[in-house]
Amino acid sequence: MHQKIKEYIESNRERFLNELFELLRIPSVSADPQYKEAVFKAAYKTAEFLKAAGIQYVEVCPTPGYPVVYGEHLFDPSLPTVLVYGHYDVQPPDPLDLWESGPFDPVVKKTDIHPEGAVFARGACDDKGQFFMHVKAVEAMLATNTMPCNVKFMIEGEEEVGSEHLAWFVANNKEKLKCDTILISDTGILSNETPSICTGLRGLSYVEVEVVGPNRDLHSGLYGGAVPNPINILAKMIASLHDENNRITIPGFYDDVVNLSDEERRLMAEAPHSDEAFKKSIGLKNTWGENGFTTPERTSIRPTLDVNGIWGGYTGEGAKTVIPSKAFAKISMRLVPNQNPDKITRLFSEHFIKIAPDCVSVKVKPHHGGEPYVSPLDSPEYQAASLAMQSTFGKKPVPVRSGGSIPIVSLFERELGVKSILLGFGLDSDAIHSPNEHFGLFNYYIGIETIPYFYQNYVNIKKA
Ligand code: BES
Ligand code: MN
Ligand code: MN
Repeated sequence: MHQKIKEYIESNRERFLNELFELLRIPSVSADPQYKEAVFKAAYKTAEFLKAAGIQYVEVCPTPGYPVVYGEHLFDPSLPTVLVYGHYDVQPPDPLDLWESGPFDPVVKKTDIHPEGAVFARGACDDKGQFFMHVKAVEAMLATNTMPCNVKFMIEGEEEVGSEHLAWFVANNKEKLKCDTILISDTGILSNETPSICTGLRGLSYVEVEVVGPNRDLHSGLYGGAVPNPINILAKMIASLHDENNRITIPGFYDDVVNLSDEERRLMAEAPHSDEAFKKSIGLKNTWGENGFTTPERTSIRPTLDVNGIWGGYTGEGAKTVIPSKAFAKISMRLVPNQNPDKITRLFSEHFIKIAPDCVSVKVKPHHGGEPYVSPLDSPEYQAASLAMQSTFGKKPVPVRSGGSIPIVSLFERELGVKSILLGFGLDSDAIHSPNEHFGLFNYYIGIETIPYFYQNYVNIKKA
């Protein structure tokens, strides 16, 4: 039976790629209002592709923000229902001058890691290339009469800015979104030789801080030495947020962290990892992180605090002698089970205000956040995904907890009572959120082939 699907994919390879290119040419940057029209255009294009794939019912659902593209193809209420989630919005493309080809001009280029070629464009991997695999896989199953269960699609346009209106949409459409599991390709695998399934996501607390000194910018000669420089002070405050063991110093920060048992850590260490390769791939002489933990542990089961941007004063050409009135920073904290983002944001605010010297004033503005997520290894959907990858990669995938965040996944669990399965096909080296983002052709097509196996296995396991 699967032969028919294989043949269908084989004879439509070119078209599957050209259609993805069409989607990638739309600059659907959700963070920047300048791209508003394009974000809507990507929603309508996504709906068009769902219809063209043979999905019975497709709807572009308005929200107070960007629309949710919804689709459903229901055969029989007694069969399981899989809900596919993805996002058609993308990160801003800047810094533009570091792109070797236009971020919205997709091209295929070969790389060391992708010798058969990769599609270069913003959103190629995160997440247009990945959710589109599902559109094509379902098309292949419908066209060959091999779709074994009901399917729903929910593709949103605000993932990269915190999914505010998707949360609203989910809370108001629980009946419509009823399903047995949620299937998501918005994560990665260890490598094309080592398939893996993402079994966890970190949560997120994101804040912006402002430190105010004098009421106006001052001549750094006339005033310097006798007034607080908010940039100097902000730098010192930020530096104090880690101790000599690179642990976060905010009181109570680690209180709710679930520590893994030695056995769990030993199992984790079985996933292949090379610190040498890790360092080499990003041009580091040495790694950095919380003492007592390995690189894979530091990026998955341990929480972090990082400055994402810092500004203030004069940064233009040449030198201007000035003591600025204000300094700013954007700070993210990645959270692990059972840390609560609201609690962590509160602990951060209280601490940051407390450590400020009384010569400055400090404001903390919370941005979007999200809860961490872990998925069980004994669920029908994990088993189905694992077997599916075995069929296409010829190897059993290893479970790996990721360091990234998809805040909506824990909300799905809370609101809909359903677990998600994170069956992603990207690589860490695919440069998501960076210049020259790309997605391997191998990954794109193996994803399209793996997904139908998932459905088949899932239905069989649920029946048994
Ligand atoms: N798809 C990513 C998250 C991701 C990538 C998880 C790779 C695991 C492996 C998602 O689009 C993303 O970028 N999430 C943001 C958070 C969001 C609230 C902006 C993140 O992790 O920074
Ligand atoms: Mn994503
Ligand atoms: Mn992203």
